[in-house]
Amino acid sequence: MANAPEVYVNGRYLPADQPQVSFFDWGFQFGDGVYEVISTWQGVMFRLDDYLDRLDASMHAAWLDPGLSRAQWREAVIEVTRRSGLRDAGTKIIVSRGAQPPGTNDLRLCRPNVFIAASPYMFLGTEAQRDSGIRLMIAHQRGMPADTLDPRYKHISRLQYNLARIEAAEAGHDDLVWLSHDGYVQEAPRSNLFAVRDGVLYTPAAGVLHGITRMTFCELARELGIPVEVRPLTAFDLFVADEVFTCSTSGAALAVREVSGRPVRQAVPGVITRRLQEAYWRIRAEGRHGTPVYPG
Ligand SMILES: Cc1ncc(COP(=O)(O)O)c(C=O)c1O
Repeated sequence: MANAPEVYVNGRYLPADQPQVSFFDWGFQFGDGVYEVISTWQGVMFRLDDYLDRLDASMHAAWLDPGLSRAQWREAVIEVTRRSGLRDAGTKIIVSRGAQPPGTNDLRLCRPNVFIAASPYMFLGTEAQRDSGIRLMIAHQRGMPADTLDPRYKHISRLQYNLARIEAAEAGHDDLVWLSHDGYVQEAPRSNLFAVRDGVLYTPAAGVLHGITRMTFCELARELGIPVEVRPLTAFDLFVADEVFTCSTSGAALAVREVSGRPVRQAVPGVITRRLQEAYWRIRAEGRHGTPVYPG
């Protein structure tokens, strides 16, 4: 049973309906911050340390240091999830730049704020989309180049992402993928991308967030004897693929049935997509890489 939602704010657990963030926090004002979403299924959190490693990398590269040890991060993430009472949850961490002390104008003097909250587990696709696949659009916007904002930052500056999502929806598509400025496929606003051709699993090599689900799918493919190639892909590779799917912490694989109007060749979900999706949920049920949230 879900309990009244609480938010961890810098070491305190506050009711979710109380204000938690200052108007002057740069995270609120300008999207200056980084985040993670960690999932719990049937009371077991998945790959907690891998998400915390990625958070650590984003924070370090962004000069954000709220001063928590690994043990304190683990404790806070587990505790806020436990307090939610949810057995299937997504626990979001946000580390924002904070506000600079009054009378100063030096970003280095900001004290970062840490917010953590658990919400009911969310699938990116609706039930119908999970059954029949999604219609994916190649966006006209280009992905952020690594020399502007490396996509490996998991950051909260999402205007570009949201504009593209609204545009895709307005155009009658369910999701979109970006190309890089030199024409290579990158990722979707909330997920990584895979294509299958002649039994080989492909995923773009560069210009992408290093998704934990992408990493898990590559590991599972190798275990299942499916060859994996992490290499540059173009839109053409998606048009001629046997299977295409996106993947994220929110529901793992989501099969694609159409790419910018071209039907994907194999019926949804394709054979390899299904094998990987089943393997993913199997290892989760077995507790592999798992941290139990509830005692006993
Ligand atoms: C831009 C982007 N790419 C990929 C992903 C998938 O990453 P993960 O599998 O770690 O959820 C996300 C998740 O939010 C994302 O925002």
